[in-house]
Amino acid sequence: MVYKTLTKAFLIAGVAFGASSGAYAADAPNTMMGASDSMLANTCAGCHGTDGASSGPAIPTIAGLSNDYFVEIMKEYAEGTVPSTVMGRMAQGYTEDEIKQLAKFYVAKPFVKAKQDFDPKLVKQGGKLHDKYCEKCHAEGGQSAEDDAGVMAGQWTPYLRNQFADFHAGLREAPKKMAKKLKDMLAKEGDAALDALTSYYASQQK
Ligand code: HEC
Ligand code: HEC
Repeated sequence: MVYKTLTKAFLIAGVAFGASSGAYAADAPNTMMGASDSMLANTCAGCHGTDGASSGPAIPTIAGLSNDYFVEIMKEYAEGTVPSTVMGRMAQGYTEDEIKQLAKFYVAKPFVKAKQDFDPKLVKQGGKLHDKYCEKCHAEGGQSAEDDAGVMAGQWTPYLRNQFADFHAGLREAPKKMAKKLKDMLAKEGDAALDALTSYYASQQK
């Protein structure tokens, strides 16, 4: 757990320092009453990229998610019901209307799939596991945002691994049916299933 937190912090610090310093310019975003959608989004760009396509690896791409998912997870970060390294503090700085503006800005942008390494030998098995346990709510091989369940195809693997770890530890609550599928899958296929799944998601680069 401590190790995981440190790793997360390390990965994020590495990316944040490498990115433009724009993200830190407005550490009191709630003073920006009346700001346009894109002005609000400037605060996010240093970490998530100008159009929400993050350069990773522990920072997720946030373009092209569903509006409901986006609004909901920002609320949950602010409340602390979804664990986070930085988003809790970030999300607390915005009003409900501003979160809706941010969602409008990012939902309209295309989800750009990450170019990242994966194990080609595991892709086929990962696809089968996905179809069996996950496709029902993460449609089109995890590409569709329509189920309000986030996007997994082309999402950064280290970010996804962090989510799996948080779901597994009960720090992030999965919907009941998903929790059951995850549990069934891990019981039948073992932890290697997660390597196969993430290889499958990472293999979707177009
Ligand atoms: C300092 C870097 C940083 C900044 C600035 C930042 N984020 Fe994040 N964001 C992250 C990280 C890291 C995560 C993963 C959760 C965590 O550990 O905090 C994340 C997760 C998210 C997610 C969840 C994506 C998913 O697939 O579930 C959303 C939505 C999001 N951020 C929106 C925003 C918005 C909107 C802003 C600007 C108001 C913003 N972020 C600013 C680093 C940042
Ligand atoms: C019954 C529907 C359902 C099934 C089945 C399901 N999920 Fe989910 N999943 C969801 C929903 C809804 C969310 C959004 C949860 C939230 O708001 O925190 C989600 C969120 C996620 C996230 C977080 C995405 C992000 O961007 O942070 C991951 C990772 C994930 N699911 C993986 C899986 C995997 C892997 C499987 C198959 C083993 C699976 N899910 C099966 C409904 C489902």
